[in-house]
Amino acid sequence: MIVEIRKGLDIQMINLIRGFKDILPEEAGIWQHIEKTARMIFEDFGFSEIRLPILERTDLFSRSIGEDTDIVEKEMYTFSDRKGDLITLRPEATASAVRSYIQHKLYAVDPIQKLYTIGPMFRRERPQKGRYRQFYQMNAEIFGIDSPYIDAQLIYVLMVFFLRLNVTDISPHINSLGCLECRPKFKDALLAFLSGKTDQLCTDCKRRKDKNPLRVLDCKVLSCQESLDDAPATLDHLCDKCQSHFEKVKYILEKINVEFVVDKRLVRGLDYYTRTTFEIQTGSLGAQSAVAGGGRYDNLVKILGGPDTPAIGFAIGLDRLVEIVDLKKDVYEKRLNVFIAALGERSREAAIEWACALGNTDVSVEIDFSERSLKGLMKRADRLKAEFVLIVGDKELEEKSVLLRNMKTKEQVSLPIEGIVEHIRKSIS
Ligand code: HAM
Repeated sequence: MIVEIRKGLDIQMINLIRGFKDILPEEAGIWQHIEKTARMIFEDFGFSEIRLPILERTDLFSRSIGEDTDIVEKEMYTFSDRKGDLITLRPEATASAVRSYIQHKLYAVDPIQKLYTIGPMFRRERPQKGRYRQFYQMNAEIFGIDSPYIDAQLIYVLMVFFLRLNVTDISPHINSLGCLECRPKFKDALLAFLSGKTDQLCTDCKRRKDKNPLRVLDCKVLSCQESLDDAPATLDHLCDKCQSHFEKVKYILEKINVEFVVDKRLVRGLDYYTRTTFEIQTGSLGAQSAVAGGGRYDNLVKILGGPDTPAIGFAIGLDRLVEIVDLKKDVYEKRLNVFIAALGERSREAAIEWACALGNTDVSVEIDFSERSLKGLMKRADRLKAEFVLIVGDKELEEKSVLLRNMKTKEQVSLPIEGIVEHIRKSIS
């Protein structure tokens, strides 16, 4: 269909959806740098990349994250596709990683799998600084290891990542949520405590408390928070195995020089966690202080139909991280090696071949096809932060040599047109 643009008619601009954002070219450099750093660290610690779909069946998330969580109750983008199947834009990646581990029987190749994935997640939360409806996460998930050593090592990997990006205002908060054996006893104690507080709880928590009292501990409503000051903590109800697992995690963390805070209120907002949970908190972000979070989910593979397999993982919130990294611009700023200022049609015809050949090697190159004057072209080269400018006009074509100007030192050399691509490559290296 051809849309007619009628004279005098106001054309309404179409803007972004609330809570969504563009990452503009000037910002993309820092995102690329962070992702590159993460890939390097993940690969060094034995992880392999897995790419997962953004749409999944709704059941996958309700069964894993939990029906009574804020994410499943209020925040998912869920709709039915044309056949009436309920599908959801993923609010997180762990459930998908588990689905994939089971569906492709990755455990049959090796029960131990270390996977990482980077991509967008979607939650319909109230947007504010550091909280978006489409946000990006880097996830690490480890399947098949129940040893506390891996819990400590995973937290270490997280710390390495932040420190390599010069983010120092961070501290890992850790807790243990127990297992299927000790959690019911804790639940009873919590329920008994909450029964005396019903009046102070918000409507959601009044409803949730009997089915899933742990969720009350995670509620952000002030009246709920205030009523929980002396609530029982999971740490006081751990069974012997969970207790010794947690002690060992702390011992290994100390051994590998990771300072941490034991935070008995850290319950996380997703139902699948067992034993060790952790968050990386920063003071630089205001209200949204968690820049990463994770923990064990030893029952999830089984809950989703796979073999009994312990697992642990984390997700780093990239949007929040971008706001706190403190890197010099030249670490991530885009560089242009050569800007070609070709004056006149004949020069452009010659230079287009050089530009294509240079770009086809590892030289970044920009050629301007406009009728701009040399002054105008030099201004554009400056704007693009070109390291070198190649100048060619009728005179240069006749003399069979071009000028290459180093924009930093302002030095200019003359290079023969014969074999020009090689001459440029040598001169700029
Ligand atoms: P999560 O705590 O829900 O955990 O999210 C992890 C991180 O994602 C948060 O610490 C935060 O930095 C970022 N994040 C979450 N919601 C938003 C938002 N609306 N806007 C911006 N950033 C946000 C998980 O998602 C678990 N799947 C982590 C995990 C992996 N556990 C085990 N494996």
